[in-house]
Amino acid sequence: MKAAILKAPGGLEQIDIVDMADPGQPGPGEIRVRIHASSLNFHDLLVANGGIPTADMRVLMSDGAGVVEAVGAGVDEFRPGDHVVSCFFPQWAAGPAKTPVGNFSATPGDGVDGMACEFVVRSAAAFTHAPKGWSHAEAATITTAGLTAWRALVGDGAIKPGDVVLTLGTGGVSIAALQIARQCGAHVIITSSSDEKLARARELGAEYLINYRTHENWAEQVLAITAGKGADHVIELGGPGTLAQSIEAVRVGGHISLIGVLTGVAGEVPTATLMRKQVRLQGLIVGSRQQQQDYVAALEASDSRPVIERTYALEQLAEAFAHQSSGSHFGKICVAW
Ligand SMILES: NC(=O)c1ccc[n+]([C@@H]2O[C@H](COP(=O)([O-])OP(=O)(O)OC[C@H]3O[C@@H](n4cnc5c(N)ncnc54)[C@H](OP(=O)(O)O)[C@@H]3O)[C@@H](O)[C@H]2O)c1
Repeated sequence: MKAAILKAPGGLEQIDIVDMADPGQPGPGEIRVRIHASSLNFHDLLVANGGIPTADMRVLMSDGAGVVEAVGAGVDEFRPGDHVVSCFFPQWAAGPAKTPVGNFSATPGDGVDGMACEFVVRSAAAFTHAPKGWSHAEAATITTAGLTAWRALVGDGAIKPGDVVLTLGTGGVSIAALQIARQCGAHVIITSSSDEKLARARELGAEYLINYRTHENWAEQVLAITAGKGADHVIELGGPGTLAQSIEAVRVGGHISLIGVLTGVAGEVPTATLMRKQVRLQGLIVGSRQQQQDYVAALEASDSRPVIERTYALEQLAEAFAHQSSGSHFGKICVAW
């Protein structure tokens, strides 16, 4: 079968399309899935460009969506023909995060082989049903970006109608957060380096738009928009380069979902402001399988569809990553085969 792998030590020029052994038929508790699509996340990019070391010949990509071809003994949740989407943490069924979901050792496309191939045989717990009527590329956006935004706002944030959500940038997680917030009846403030992208965010329902290049102190803008109160929830995607302003921009007693590493992985934190404002700062990595099932159910009950900027062929995976690296995209970039 065809697979996109990464040769050591990584780098987009080290991505290769190879012929691998077919994984065969599922054993007890397993399913065989014909994978048709994946979506690109910043994490996949870090693996592919060598920023996160991985095994030589690793099959890339965390996100995978496709069709069940066969089920092993004891599997009653899926049948051949079902459309499914993979889980970021196959070993995290439900409940709060605890060991071993503090690292990527079981995450497809990082600690174990990923979804950039034609067939996988995995535990049935490594997949959920996909929303009915969605394309495989659309469904693939659920695994990482969509579920992270869902958990941040709904699971951890208990978002309510009328809340104000601040989300940073216009990549995959941020646009999913914008869509979820609007579905929940919340108001959205979004930042971007591009006025053109902000105009696209407005079409999706963002009411307040801030260009973080022309307004370097964007937290002041957030306070002005909210009459000095601040945002109820912040989808914090920048990391050390943006966290101090996110703490300024959140309301007293508000909630910051610490998700991203776009500006790095360590830095100074204004701890006194965090304490004084009694802010809840929640670090998170994606979510559980139960949260993915809840998200899929919510998506089926809504008319929301993910925003996909472009879908590439699997053979164009390096080109797709180069597109993502350029930062010119809005929402998601996918690959389908
Ligand atoms: N913890 C988790 O579970 C989890 C899950 C998914 C992703 N993440 C992390 O979340 C971040 C976003 O991931 P993604 O997949 O959505 O990435 P992505 O699609 O590649 O999004 C990148 C976008 O982020 C925006 N951006 C870049 N630097 C920024 C800055 N300094 N301030 C504000 N926005 C900035 C840019 O938007 P504009 O062009 O509009 O400026 C850029 O297009 C990454 O750090 C990723 O590793 C974490």
